[in-house]
Amino acid sequence: MTKTRYALAGAGHRAQMYVDAIVGEHRDRAELVAIVEPNPVRAAYYADRLVAADAAPARVGTPEQLERLIREERVDRVIICARDDLHAELIVRSLEAGADVVVEKPLTIDARSAARIEDAVARTGRRVVLTFNYRYSPRNSALRQVIQDGTIGQVTSIDFSWMLDTNHGADYFRRWHREKKNSGGLLVHKSSHHFDLVNWWIRSQPTRVYASGGLRFYGAENAARRGLGERPARGTHDDGDLFELDLRIDERLSALYLEAEQHDGYRRDLDVFSEGITIEDNLALVVDYASGATLSYSLNAHAPWEGYRVAVNGTLGRAELEVVERGAVLAGEGLHPTLDPSLSGGDGTTDVRPEGERLIVQRHWEAAFEVSIDGGDGGHGGGDALLLSDVFAGPGDDPLARPADWTDGIRSIAVGIAGNRSLETGLPVNVADLGIALLDERP
Ligand SMILES: NC(=O)c1ccc[n+]([C@@H]2O[C@H](COP(=O)([O-])OP(=O)(O)OC[C@H]3O[C@@H](n4cnc5c(N)ncnc54)[C@H](O)[C@@H]3O)[C@@H](O)[C@H]2O)c1
Repeated sequence: MTKTRYALAGAGHRAQMYVDAIVGEHRDRAELVAIVEPNPVRAAYYADRLVAADAAPARVGTPEQLERLIREERVDRVIICARDDLHAELIVRSLEAGADVVVEKPLTIDARSAARIEDAVARTGRRVVLTFNYRYSPRNSALRQVIQDGTIGQVTSIDFSWMLDTNHGADYFRRWHREKKNSGGLLVHKSSHHFDLVNWWIRSQPTRVYASGGLRFYGAENAARRGLGERPARGTHDDGDLFELDLRIDERLSALYLEAEQHDGYRRDLDVFSEGITIEDNLALVVDYASGATLSYSLNAHAPWEGYRVAVNGTLGRAELEVVERGAVLAGEGLHPTLDPSLSGGDGTTDVRPEGERLIVQRHWEAAFEVSIDGGDGGHGGGDALLLSDVFAGPGDDPLARPADWTDGIRSIAVGIAGNRSLETGLPVNVADLGIALLDERP
């Protein structure tokens, strides 16, 4: 079998899922031939990983060398795992240099760069795959199936709230995500997962967004207001501070960030109560959809537990999905080295809030019933393995339409971008006014 030749752009934490898939499950069909990464320590981390897996070595280059590496190494596809605000430039340059793209969410962080991507796809005719792994979580797929089967009729409204706990949620306030110019804020960086789920669940697209929210827990001003006193310069855990991340406790975090800092000054463990945070930690939105449905959505990034609740109302009944990914973040346990509980299983199960998931469907005039959720092994209940199979082996004929491309990427960030504009102006924002041709359809 001829192997597809991959380049990796951005060799940080997220890159590992792709590199491991290339040298593992998909090694017969994929080969990593180039690593594009400005930090030599992180580039070497992944170059060494190839060697350890007995795979052919990859050429390592800086971001400026992207086109040259694509040309000289005959790269078929570039996997983009860099910071969110860098996605658009890397996508456009890769497409123009003759490669297809696989990109992490969010597609990009603002309307202008989204329009650039749209233009580059039209000019080059190349493919951009978006890796929306949440679609592949069995519980989210199960909800899509219920709606698609027509069990609850035509969807009229959705009520969706997402809780990020003081472990995982706090982590967005420690590094580049904490600045809106890098991540688009949680409405783009994090919630684009959730808005994509809604678009995909109800098979529609957003038309108007009203948002409200602010930074009310993290950040220097909130800390001062709550009298938190002087903050430690760096996480060491010696003083028992519950918000410090001690990079030394995790070999991978230490290798990727602590030992790499000297080259670019990228600090992975900034204090969540320090100056310089420009994103929100509490958000509420009302979103209208072309289908006529309305979404009420909220995100809280300092909850004592982690999970989500979504209720979908339809003309024939209602479906409710409740997920507890981590029942509690308990003092004294330290921060879990794997920060996203959905990847590892929670570490704070409590009796009154057991970790788990439940999908309940109730049709009018009938008793409620529970829909079984078929989970698998590995990250996101086996969802990551399914996603990687679609990415590397090519999507099959999926009745749930899980594989996503740049158009899904744009429709998902549209809500966050319009939401950010609404936060600035205090007014509802029409998605058609964002200046992205794909969204220029009024209901
Ligand atoms: N789908 C998910 O569940 C999920 C989870 C985590 C992260 N992500 C996404 O993955 C991406 C990477 O996140 P991360 O946590 O690995 O971040 P990270 O900061 O650990 O890694 C980003 C890497 O990009 C490198 N880089 C900087 N400038 C670059 C450039 N111009 N060209 C190429 N590389 C450059 C950095 O040095 C760093 O090594 C983000 O877009 C994030 O949103 C998705």
